[in-house]
Parts: sequence; C-alpha cells; structure tokens
Amino acid sequence: MRILSGIQPTGRFHWGNYFGAIQQYIALQGDKEKAFYFIANLHALTTVRDPERMRQNVYDAALDLLGLGLDPEKATLFVQSDVPEVSQLTWLIMTVTPMGLLERCHAYKEKKARGLTADTGLFAYPVLMAADILIYDSNIVPVGEDQMQHIEVARDIAGSFNYLFGNVFVLPKGKVLDSSAKVPGTDGEKMSKSYGNTIECFEDLKVQRKKIMRITTDSRPMEESKDPEIDHLFQLYSNFATDSQREEMAALYRRGGFGYGQIKKELADVAEAYFADARKRREEFAAQPELVREILAQGAARARQKAAEVLLRAEIACGIK
Ligand code: ADP
Ligand code: TRP
Repeated sequence: MRILSGIQPTGRFHWGNYFGAIQQYIALQGDKEKAFYFIANLHALTTVRDPERMRQNVYDAALDLLGLGLDPEKATLFVQSDVPEVSQLTWLIMTVTPMGLLERCHAYKEKKARGLTADTGLFAYPVLMAADILIYDSNIVPVGEDQMQHIEVARDIAGSFNYLFGNVFVLPKGKVLDSSAKVPGTDGEKMSKSYGNTIECFEDLKVQRKKIMRITTDSRPMEESKDPEIDHLFQLYSNFATDSQREEMAALYRRGGFGYGQIKKELADVAEAYFADARKRREEFAAQPELVREILAQGAARARQKAAEVLLRAEIACGIK
C-alpha cells in the first residue's frame, strides 16, 4: 500500500493549501515506506523561471511542510527532481499517450482558451504527473478536487502501457480531500495565489492581522441576523475553531447585533493560536539547514530505490533493456 502526493513549490503555502491538501497528507502519514510526499519542482518549472526563487521556494516548501507536521519518521519527504528516474519514465509513457487525452486537460485547455500559447511542458504536465504516480507503484493519491482529472489520465496511461507491454504498472486511485474544505480568500473568492487573496500559514503576525481586518464583508446593519453558512468570514473561522466555538459563533450570527470587526479579531486570535506550534517547529528546522537537507537526501534515496525498480520493470517490458 503506497500513498503518494506532490505539491508545487510556487510560493509560500496558504490556508487554502493547508486545509485543502497538506492537512490531509499529514493525517495519512504513519509509515515512511507507505507515505511518499514530494515537492514538485519540475512541475513548478512551467511557471517559475527565476533560478534563485526556485531554489528558495523548494527550501521554503520543505520548511513549511516540516513545520506543519510532516514527520520524516512517518513519511518520506523528497524533492521531485532528486529522482531522475521520473523524467526517464516520463518519456516512456509519453510514447503511449494520445494527444487528445492531453488536449482535454484543464491547465492547457484554459490557457489556450485565453488565446495564449502553451509550452510543451504545460501540455505534457499530466504525463510527468502520471510518471510521478506510477513510478512508486502508488495505490492512493490524495489530492484537491482540481487534480482528479490528472489521476484519471495517469490511470489511462497505465492502462495503455499495460495493454501493450504486460502488467507493468499499478492502477492508482485518487482520493479527493474533504471537498467542503474549499477555503475562501480575503475577497470571498477561492483562496489562490493567482487571485492575490491569500493568507499564508506562516505569515508575519502583524501582516496576518492586517489582512484579516481587510477581509471583505457585507454592509448590512449590525443588529440584523445573518446566515453563517454563506459568510466567508465564518467559513474561515470554522477551519480553526473547535466544534463548540463554531456553534457559539453560528449562534451569534443568527442572533445578530455584532460587528464584523469583533469576528475578525477572533479569527486572528484562533488562527494565531492554531499555527503557534507549527510556527515554532518551523523555526527549529530553519535553524538547522543541514538537518533539512539530510531529511530530503534520505527521502530521495528511499524514493529512488523504488523508482529504479519500477523504471527497470518498464524498460524491460517495452524492450529498451
Ligand atoms: P494556488 O491556487 O494558490 O496556486 P495550488 O493550485 O498550487 O494553489 O494548490 C495546491 C493544492 O492546494 C491543491 O491540491 C489544491 O487543491 C489545494 N488548494 C489550493 N487552494 C485551495 C483552496 N482555496 N481551498 C482548498 N484547497 C485548495
Ligand atoms: N499537479 C499537482 C498540483 O498542482 C502537484 C503534483 C505533481 C502531484 N505531481 C503529482 C500531485 C503527483 C499528486 C501526485 O497540485
């Protein structure tokens, strides 16, 4: 049984990434032979074109994940490009991937719809992702809803290769992370780097408070009763609150007679408390860069061992070894 997932190092992780993805990776860890998590720097190359920023992003992603609770004793953490076998497998499976399959994939389709020209890397992005998954004999791939299409592509590619060359690849299954966890951003839209509405997990606390105070709200009078379920401030609060805090807050909304400033202050307090331990842990790792590098090196060594075995199996099956 292998659980595998990857996350792109395109910037510091925000609340949406945490509640939508990272929290579940961490919940599924337990055995480092079973849980493989990697920092997808090869995928990020399709958008990050500044080498210094790329290096920094990868290191920051490792620190963020370790801070947030990814435990190197309970999961294998590595950087995608430290396993070159993945790129080798990408070519092999690309030869059995129909163009049409990739033309339907959303990242490419959306870019094309906006009249932009896409690089081959963006077009073939799902093939690299399929190689990531197939090369570790992954059974379960926990991802956000937006990545499910890519898991289906991986299954299709595995099926075609197996049909042509025998039983080489394990067919992976996607596991959608709790989809109720679509975290809104400071403007009420989905929190996303591309919308500039994020609050990072390890945001400077003063900046964090300022961002929270600027979260958009409606302008209905204070005394009016409000429906908590459709309010993005309430949704944000719910992610951090205990059940009883959440109930109390919902009751306050229904009663009315409160100001949004009061709720924002409470949100700032719970968010600060929620990530306090993670923040401390991140600082401890940040003070030991050698240790972080060692964790990534050991993770890559473990991942490579499995990757080499599966790559060889594929190479023998298709006749190039
Ligand atoms: P961004 O939209 O900021 O570029 P990514 O696309 O890199 O974020 O997302 C990385 C992971 O985090 C994906 O699995 C995605 O599903 C999840 N994710 C991102 N934003 C949110 C959000 N607002 N709510 C829930 N999950 C999210
Ligand atoms: N494409 C994924 C994302 O943007 C990241 C990713 C790359 C991934 N390779 C993967 C996720 C393999 C799961 C499995 O979020």
